[in-house]
Amino acid sequence: MRRAVCPGSFDPITNGHLDIIARASELYDVVHVAVMINKSKQGLFTVDERIELIRQVTGRFGNIEVESHHGLLVDFCKDRGIPAIVKGLRAVSDFDYELQMAQMNNGLSGVETLFIPTNPTYSFLSSSLVKEVAAWGGDVSHLLPDVVQEALVERLGEK
Ligand code: PNS
Repeated sequence: MRRAVCPGSFDPITNGHLDIIARASELYDVVHVAVMINKSKQGLFTVDERIELIRQVTGRFGNIEVESHHGLLVDFCKDRGIPAIVKGLRAVSDFDYELQMAQMNNGLSGVETLFIPTNPTYSFLSSSLVKEVAAWGGDVSHLLPDVVQEALVERLGEK
């Protein structure tokens, strides 16, 4: 079984993430989506809510496993026999930090990182930007799966 992981905060998953996961799912037998827990960051959605949304929007691919992880990504990979991390690269500005992480992860455990160029439609897209625009009443429905858009509107309405 050829396995890869798509890691991230996914707070919440966007069409940009989904595009990368979909493309990775064509290349690998199993794609693990790892919702990485960062205790110093207060999320808009709980980790369980993020996992549930990801499961709903990736279920149709048929080869996606969604889990959370608290700790190093390389340990997540080691525990599951995953040799490859797949990341989307939106623009050159992503590259510096992504390269550092890729080199660190490879040095720590030998895991490889593969970059997929983001669909240009989503090159400006991030979860934080979507949340900010939506919080001010902007329309982000074209940037999110329907179920995520509904969850976002509902969550922002509670605040
Ligand atoms: O969606 P994000 O927040 O940009 O994703 C960043 C993430 C979670 C993939 C990255 O911070 C990460 O891999 N964190 C896990 C902890 C870890 O392994 N840190 C060392 C990276 S070299």
